Amino acid sequence: MRRRSTFRWLGLILLVMCVLPTVMFYAWGPPINGGATGATQLGFLQAGESAALLRPGHFNSWKKREGELRLRDAKLNITNCEPKTDIAFIKTHKTGGTTVMQILHRFGYLRNTSFLLPHNDINDLYPHGLLNPNLYLPPIQHGHGILTYHAVYDRRSIIKHLSENSTFFTIIREPLSHLKSTFSYYRLSRLMEDYESTEMEAMIKFLEDPGRYDTKFNTDSPSRPVSFTRNPMALELGFPVDKLQNTAGDPSSEEIKNFLQRISRDLDLVMIMEYFEESLVLLRRLMCWDLQDILYLRYNSYEYSNVTVPPVLVDIHKRWDTVDYALYDHFNRTLWGKIQKEGNDFRQELNHFKDVENKVRTHCASPKDHLPTIVERSPWNQQFLIDSTFCTWLKASHMCYWTLLRDRSLKFHMSTDPRKTTPLSNRKQPFFVKLSRKLRVSSGIHSPPFCLLCGEVQKYCSDHEYVSHIYQEGHISSSQSSSNRLELQGWHGGDPLPPA
Ligand SMILES: *[C@@H]1O[C@H](CO)[C@@H](O)[C@H](O)[C@H]1NC(C)=O
Ligand SMILES: *[C@@H]1O[C@H](CO)[C@@H](O)[C@H](O)[C@H]1NC(C)=O
Ligand SMILES: *[C@@H]1O[C@H](CO)[C@@H](O)[C@H](O)[C@H]1NC(C)=O
Ligand SMILES: *[C@@H]1O[C@H](CO)[C@@H](O)[C@H](O)[C@H]1NC(C)=O
Ligand SMILES: *[C@@H]1O[C@H](CO)[C@@H](O)[C@H](O)[C@H]1NC(C)=O
Repeated sequence: MRRRSTFRWLGLILLVMCVLPTVMFYAWGPPINGGATGATQLGFLQAGESAALLRPGHFNSWKKREGELRLRDAKLNITNCEPKTDIAFIKTHKTGGTTVMQILHRFGYLRNTSFLLPHNDINDLYPHGLLNPNLYLPPIQHGHGILTYHAVYDRRSIIKHLSENSTFFTIIREPLSHLKSTFSYYRLSRLMEDYESTEMEAMIKFLEDPGRYDTKFNTDSPSRPVSFTRNPMALELGFPVDKLQNTAGDPSSEEIKNFLQRISRDLDLVMIMEYFEESLVLLRRLMCWDLQDILYLRYNSYEYSNVTVPPVLVDIHKRWDTVDYALYDHFNRTLWGKIQKEGNDFRQELNHFKDVENKVRTHCASPKDHLPTIVERSPWNQQFLIDSTFCTWLKASHMCYWTLLRDRSLKFHMSTDPRKTTPLSNRKQPFFVKLSRKLRVSSGIHSPPFCLLCGEVQKYCSDHEYVSHIYQEGHISSSQSSSNRLELQGWHGGDPLPPA
């Protein structure tokens, strides 16, 4: 009896001896940043509190670490070039574009980059909203840095807002699978005569006579593609609508040749959805980014039933959708050409990227009290931690990002406009707020000066995301946010999929 309890004590002491150093290591990061602050906080570490202190301590150092990481990047020269931050992403419909937008949202949001933001509706820049100043917000810096919202590609209207030296890129998808996805997502069967059929049955019927149905699909709504079935990707990349009739069934027509030539010259990269990870590695190299920057969770991806389309109907589709097939063939070829030129370490980097992606997915799907996962330094990334903050910004929905970015922009413009008297101008910045230990939605943070689009913030962002945001903006101190964040956190971050 007594002996067993001695063993138990011994075991407990051993456990504490093993676990405590690990906890400290995680709590204050690798020794390279801030052994000193670690030592002062160490004095407060009581056994029972270790878990509670862990995350705040970690969180406190997060902002600082971000800066230090960048400094170390420069010293160690991972990329040997300056990371690019001026970006024009031409977002096409039903191609995985929202997942790419998530990457850009996170990248720019955390760096306080100015996005070219549609004001009232996330699709307002589509198709030609860039020409209408009422539809977007003015920049928060000397110019806009990132365009990522749907807009039909028109280089001249884009470089009125963004640097002419921005990196231009887009993403496309195999045309038949694009059609399946379009049918399924927009439920095009509704617009056909046979309401009873499934989307894939309707699509087969459509392919038997595309001209008969297509006119019924296309409407002039900014929340819908300019064309559902007839060269939708090419049209969004600026192929002239009035030239379509010259192209049917002739992939080698002059129109198509000129178009491909023009966008090959204009675009620095055309990603291919079927080779998403390969495309992202190319993007990372093109942008001189760290591998951290291209990590993602698949977003807005919907399941649809798989059908085999008879070859005769595939041929009809190729005649109907000629420009998109030519577009896809061309850029699938150039993608693989680029990969070939990247040399042997491309494959290695790709495998490493997939490994890290797996770690991220596993970690961010686990409950909050998991210790952060360390990703070791590699030729393509600095050492970094996958922690709750990382997961939060990986998962925040595109609607939440769009809302927070607009809110940030509106606050900036109000605070710099002397004619406007807003709650902001009565306060000295940065303004801190006292929060109770258990933060509630009703505790006043969903009101000015913390937000201006408060209703939308509540609609699109979880409380956890919003508290992370007001910390990010400097409205609450790290010690306040951290203890409260513990209460609020639940699972890491928000919901990776948007509401249906
Ligand atoms: C790092 O890259 C910069 C910019 O390309 C270069 O000037 C510098 O010499 C490099 N430093 C090292 C240590 O390689
Ligand atoms: C774009 O790059 C060119 C060449 O490096 C430079 O001369 C020009 O000033 C740059 N334009 C902008 C807007 O930065
Ligand atoms: C769809 O079915 C085909 C053949 O039946 C198969 O080769 C393909 O992998 C399937 N695609 C998906 C996305 O399940
Ligand atoms: C894209 O190109 C690769 C390499 O040439 C080829 O193997 C593949 O079949 C193409 N993909 C599609 C979906 O056509
Ligand atoms: C973001 O950038 C704007 C404009 O440069 C600046 O006024 C603001 O203080 C920055 N915000 C943060 C949180 O760094």
